[in-house]
Amino acid sequence: MVTGTLLIMLDFYELKDDHLPKIQDKELSDEQVLLEINALRAKLGDRVALLGHHYQQDDIIAFADYTGDSLQLAREAAKLKAEYIIFCGVHFMAETADMLTADNQNVILPDMNAGCSMADMANRSEIDRAWKSISKAANTDTVIPITYINCDAKLKDFVGANGGAICTSSNAKQVISWALEQGEKLLFFPDQHLGRNTCVELGISLDEMIVYNPNLQNGGVTADQIKEAKVILWYGFCSVHQGFTVDQIKEIKAKEPERTILIHPECSYEVYSAADMSGSTSFILNTIKDAPKGSKWAIGTEINLVNRLAAQFTDLDILSLSPYQCLCTTMYRVRPRWLLESLRSIDNNTPTNIIKVPAAIKENALKALDRMLNIC
Ligand code: 13P
Ligand code: SF4
Repeated sequence: MVTGTLLIMLDFYELKDDHLPKIQDKELSDEQVLLEINALRAKLGDRVALLGHHYQQDDIIAFADYTGDSLQLAREAAKLKAEYIIFCGVHFMAETADMLTADNQNVILPDMNAGCSMADMANRSEIDRAWKSISKAANTDTVIPITYINCDAKLKDFVGANGGAICTSSNAKQVISWALEQGEKLLFFPDQHLGRNTCVELGISLDEMIVYNPNLQNGGVTADQIKEAKVILWYGFCSVHQGFTVDQIKEIKAKEPERTILIHPECSYEVYSAADMSGSTSFILNTIKDAPKGSKWAIGTEINLVNRLAAQFTDLDILSLSPYQCLCTTMYRVRPRWLLESLRSIDNNTPTNIIKVPAAIKENALKALDRMLNIC
């Protein structure tokens, strides 16, 4: 049976020559690609497990053994026994899965260009520089670094080495509460919005938080500001979730006050404050699953998930909060032709796109990951 429908076309941005799948249209039609994926999955059996993040397109989700948010997929990866784990998501998720699996297992990212623009907003040398300037204003023994899982493994290594932990959007509240029990101050990166929204939820006021912008001299903050702040938020953000605005909420509420606004906490503080509910991609999914028949929703998250929910829950009235297509283009890079290439490479015993975090980085990064998994 052919799974998937390949309805969505990449017509809104041009692919560079070096980013074309090896399996070209003239070799296989879309339908043949899906048929061969099904055949290879059956042939490879338990040797391969396929994980799919909720933002993946339908034609990938259709093949996933497990779907979930970043926390669920990390937990799932840690339990898998398969020789090959094909991670249909973005680079930091595949790195996390590699760290949580055994050395003889291989995590494959079907498209090596599937990154995360937010994760790219903080790199290790910037974090080291920030830590140095924080150390001039405060005792870093009392500053707990927390990184959102959306970051390079080198940042997870930094956090693990400095007594901190990782969080995801579904456990940020518990991890930040833990951090504030361990120290007096928090350095939270790379997403300022998740950090701010969660800290406000925990009763920390906005004037106790400062934003450290690595593009500015000394992060754009003074030593006194660092000394007084309870929370130092990194400047990063998700360009997809920053696309949602308070005006969109106002417009919907003016016409339909009964429509519930449900958003991901990577949205800005203003949007978070104006929305009715907020939570991770799994929280959004579970809220919709439990919603009463006929209820109306406007969802502020990635469009593939919103469209899937609207198609799946036809007894609800679901629309995107934004009239524009808030698409994560890097998540969208993973397409059936790339998945087929990964499967063919395993079948030919020449697996490609294997993600391996170097042992020197893994040691401390794993400490930070384990702290998170033990907190919740
Ligand atoms: P989740 O933790 O909800 O999976 O979010 C990950 C992500 O990248 C959202 O943009
Ligand atoms: Fe990164 Fe935003 Fe895409 Fe999530 S939606 S993977 S944070 S760019």
